[in-house]
Amino acid sequence: MASGPIIVQDFEQYLKTKSSEPWWQYFRSGADSEQTLADNALAFQRYRLRPRYLRDVSQRDLSISLLGHRLQLPIGVCPSSSHGMVHPEAEIATAKGVASVGSAMGLSMWSNKPLEDIAAAVAPETPLFQQLNVFCDRTSMDRLTSHAEWLVKRTERAGFKGIVLTVDQPVTGNGVERRRTGPAVEPLDLTFPQFVVPGGSYLDSEDRMTLDPSLTWDDLEWLRDLTSLPIVLKGILTAEDASEAVKRGVSAIWVSNHGGRQLDGAPATIDALPEVVNAVRGSNVEVYLDGGVRKGTDVLKALALGARAVFIGRPALWGLAYDGEAGVRKVLEILREELSRAMALTGCSSIADITPDLIKMPSQ
Ligand SMILES: Cc1cc2nc3c(=O)[nH]c(=O)nc-3n(C[C@H](O)[C@H](O)[C@H](O)COP(=O)(O)O)c2cc1C
Repeated sequence: MASGPIIVQDFEQYLKTKSSEPWWQYFRSGADSEQTLADNALAFQRYRLRPRYLRDVSQRDLSISLLGHRLQLPIGVCPSSSHGMVHPEAEIATAKGVASVGSAMGLSMWSNKPLEDIAAAVAPETPLFQQLNVFCDRTSMDRLTSHAEWLVKRTERAGFKGIVLTVDQPVTGNGVERRRTGPAVEPLDLTFPQFVVPGGSYLDSEDRMTLDPSLTWDDLEWLRDLTSLPIVLKGILTAEDASEAVKRGVSAIWVSNHGGRQLDGAPATIDALPEVVNAVRGSNVEVYLDGGVRKGTDVLKALALGARAVFIGRPALWGLAYDGEAGVRKVLEILREELSRAMALTGCSSIADITPDLIKMPSQ
């Protein structure tokens, strides 16, 4: 009998055993009654596949282009915080795992390694995207620049390829299980270098650290003025917001419900994807998806419904807990192998062959 993880879910136990209960709940849980968290994964099962045969699938090319960068597979890693709680090499190990398979990574603002060190480890070959939340310090700051401005400049200097603005977090979601088990307290030696500013740390001041709930579409102009990097909006779930995003000139829309951690009752991302794809049709805005992607067929379904790429959140943390860089690589390799097999079984030799007619939509 084979020992060790075979499918992506097999990796989850390693994060569970390694974490204290509050940290385990921090990584695992969703908001409120966790409907959306559960539905993200379940919803993929409602879409069935319509395989096509006799199409010569002996060679399969999984590569794609994402914002002009070539990736060897259409599966990247999401921004998620506190990789230092999972592995001592934290986001550097994650990024190296991503680099080893030729993919891309979003870096959380709440990472435990400086963005410059991550870029030094894997850029420029590996496209890195800096995730951004905006705080209430844009007008009432006591420094020359806001945190966002300062971070965006650092990101540009380090050679990142884009800014991922998280829009689904005007306030923090209600993590009930997280609250029940008490706060996940970081050890003192775990730092958040993206908040270390000249002369101190943003983390010292709670009012500065409040997420800015007044953010609007007009603020995209403000962000646009700060940077020439492509702007990706993460957390869009409706055609209305997708159309507005196209009008506002963003480069990509990342369909996400924050892994079920923000609004419980929001749709599963695979269910929200078609209306977003429809709304951007005719523009050159790219669409990505995350949330509940655990199998090669999940990736195939998302691509068939119009996503250019998918991203994994928790599975990357599970792989990191399993074996650092090698563990992240192993998770991505399993998904790559499963996607390649699913492509063969549905008659696809390239990503362009993965079209909507492969999908049997769920009955309404
Ligand atoms: C522990 C954890 C921390 C996260 N931190 C962030 C974050 O700092 N910024 C962000 O935009 N999304 C964050 N996310 C959401 C992920 O980017 C992503 O949307 C989600 O994990 C995808 O769902 P999945 O975990 O089912 O793959 C976090 C998710 C988890 C599980």
